[in-house]
Amino acid sequence: MNFELKPLSLMGVSTEKCDALIVLVATGFQSASDDLSLALAQALKSGDLENKPGKLLVMYRPVQARTVRMVLAHVGDASPRHVRSALLAAITAVKSAGLKKLVVCFAEPAREDAVRAAVLAVADATYVYTHTKSKPEERTLQKATLTAVNASEVQITFERAVAIVAGVELAKEWANRPANFATPTMLGQAAEELARLPKIACEVLGLKEVSKLGMGAFMAVAQGSDQPLRFIVLRYSGAPKTQAPTVLVGKGITFDSGGISIKPAPEMDEMKFDMSGAASVLGVFQSLALLKPAINVVGLIPACENLPNGRAVKPGDVVTSMSGQTIEILNTDAEGRLVLCDALTYAERFKPAAVVDIATLTGACMIALGSVRSGLFASDDALGLQLMASGEMSQDLCWRMPLDDDYAEGLKTGFADVANVAGRAGGAVTAAKFLQRFSAKFAWAHLDIAGTAWKSGAGKSASGRPVGLLVEYLMSVAASK
Ligand code: BES
Ligand code: MN
Ligand code: ZN
Repeated sequence: MNFELKPLSLMGVSTEKCDALIVLVATGFQSASDDLSLALAQALKSGDLENKPGKLLVMYRPVQARTVRMVLAHVGDASPRHVRSALLAAITAVKSAGLKKLVVCFAEPAREDAVRAAVLAVADATYVYTHTKSKPEERTLQKATLTAVNASEVQITFERAVAIVAGVELAKEWANRPANFATPTMLGQAAEELARLPKIACEVLGLKEVSKLGMGAFMAVAQGSDQPLRFIVLRYSGAPKTQAPTVLVGKGITFDSGGISIKPAPEMDEMKFDMSGAASVLGVFQSLALLKPAINVVGLIPACENLPNGRAVKPGDVVTSMSGQTIEILNTDAEGRLVLCDALTYAERFKPAAVVDIATLTGACMIALGSVRSGLFASDDALGLQLMASGEMSQDLCWRMPLDDDYAEGLKTGFADVANVAGRAGGAVTAAKFLQRFSAKFAWAHLDIAGTAWKSGAGKSASGRPVGLLVEYLMSVAASK
């Protein structure tokens, strides 16, 4: 799908040929004297278009424009949230009819955050998963044109949003694919594909290399499955080698059965999404290739399945991590932290400016924050603040969680340096405390995306989060250089 941004007033828009025209109107709309503006003013005055965000008025072959379908959509104060919900509703109203060319018009000068929200909402509303359908019904939309009188003022925001969409869609695609179509090997191949883009390189390690590195915790998780593990190293080089990179670490459990500590059957299928952190890292690299910021970024993905075969790791087993710390695996379902801890140790070799790991780590985080905000943990306040701000900026929200040392008490054991689980209380925090033991050598943050990476239930589907947050963060790193 193609996006374009055009500097057009309502009068200019009326001559655009398209299948559907969505006019976004905010509170306080000032009418000009062209036919489309007057119709809009009348619709508002008569109450046919209610003066409330999300309210729609749908028309067919309106005389005021060269479109087949027109939707007048109220966006209230034009906040990103209202723009998003109004657009999702408006697109639903016109989508069924083989929509190919869509024009979304801001009736007044557009706010930057509204433009960003509009681009993402158009993409979200028209994304379709097809990979494992025998008769795929592909996305029909080919071109989405955004119009605003002040287009030149919002051009940069628009371009960034389009690049974020490309990353979000790659992340959704891989997260949505079932585990037998998204094995660790296939994730490795996806990374190698990305390395064909300019400035991106990739290296994929297998069991032999990982074993030589001493990644005992990662290998312990992988050993219960017949699928071979992969450790993916992606590099984006947009700045001289001397500039310290930002490292992103994505949890890549391509299926989490729980292992010997097996999960209950209901909704276990959703554990195919347990590589959403990895998918978001792939997505970010896609966006970087388009935006080309002058920074260096490393992406690390420990990828494997968590399954319970005869060689599987057992509760009570003690393993030695790459850091040298021994870990008593009390619950094999707390596998995310085991693959991440070795990746965090591996990150040390890059002498990173900062390391951010992204993981569908705990059901507890989902209970704490639901699906609105991801959990943010940071050992470094500046990094925490920057990530929080990037979340607000991209409307890919997160919320800071605590890391008091007292939360680590429950991880103590007499049989190893640390246990992989504490009690049920504060589960998202104790998981983060476990990871923090492996990130002492750099500024570190952890995003627990268990609640935000996908929508659960009948219409289960990946959200592509937190690609928006991460890209916005990396662009802010680039801007501060
Ligand atoms: N991948 C899960 C976390 C998860 C659960 C994400 C449900 C989204 C929805 C993770 O590997 C896991 O199983 N965590 C356990 C940890 C527990 C054993 C300490 C959990 O949250 O129950
Ligand atoms: Mn698990
Ligand atoms: Zn998991």
